[in-house]
Amino acid sequence: SGDLGADVAALVASRTLDVPDFPKPGILFKDLMPLFSDGMVFKETIDAIAAHHGPDSFDVVVGVEARGFVIAAALAYATGVGVVPIRKAGKLPRKTHSESYALEYGEATLEVQEDAFVAGQRVLVVDDVLATGGTARATLDLVEKAGGTVAGFTVLLELAFLEGRRRLAGRTVDALLTV
Ligand code: PRP
Ligand code: MG
Repeated sequence: SGDLGADVAALVASRTLDVPDFPKPGILFKDLMPLFSDGMVFKETIDAIAAHHGPDSFDVVVGVEARGFVIAAALAYATGVGVVPIRKAGKLPRKTHSESYALEYGEATLEVQEDAFVAGQRVLVVDDVLATGGTARATLDLVEKAGGTVAGFTVLLELAFLEGRRRLAGRTVDALLTV
C-alpha cells in the first residue's frame, strides 16, 4: 500500500531490489536505482508526486544527498520550483548549519547552507527511502534552523517497521510504497 494509490505503489514495488547484507551483514539494502534508470517509470513516479501536491503547496524542494538529489531535481523541474541541497558534511562552501544523526548503518552529519531559505519558505523534503528517520529528522531540524518551514516529506519507500515517521513531529509524510 501507499499514500498515493495502488498503481504508483505497485510501480515502486516493481522497481525496488532487495540486496541482503549491504553495506553490512544483517542490513537489507533497498535499491531504487532501477526506478531511476527506467525513463517511463521515473517520469510516472515524479508526475504522481507532483499531481498529489496541489498547485502552490510548496515553494522549494529539498533533496538529501545523494539519492534524494535525483528525485528533488526532477520534481522541482516538474513543478517549476527550485532545489535546495542538504549535503553530507564538508561539501558546502559557506556558513552552514549542521546536524549529526545515527544511521541504520553508521553515523553521519548533514549540512545546509545558512542562507538557503527565505524566511517562512515552504519546503517539501524528498528522499528515496524513509528507514529509521534519522536522515529525515536531521533534515527537518536543518530546514528549520535555516528559516524554512517543512510542508511535508515525500519518500518513494517507507520501511514502516523502523518507525521513522514517529521522529518527524507530526509532519505530513507521504510514502509511495510502505512495506
Ligand atoms: C539512505 C537513504 C535515505 C536514508 C534513510 O541514504 O537514501 O537517505 O538512508 O535512512 P534513515 O531513515 O535510517 O536515515 P544514505 O545515508 O545511505 O546515503 P545516500 O543517499 O548518499 O546513498
Ligand atoms: Mg540517502
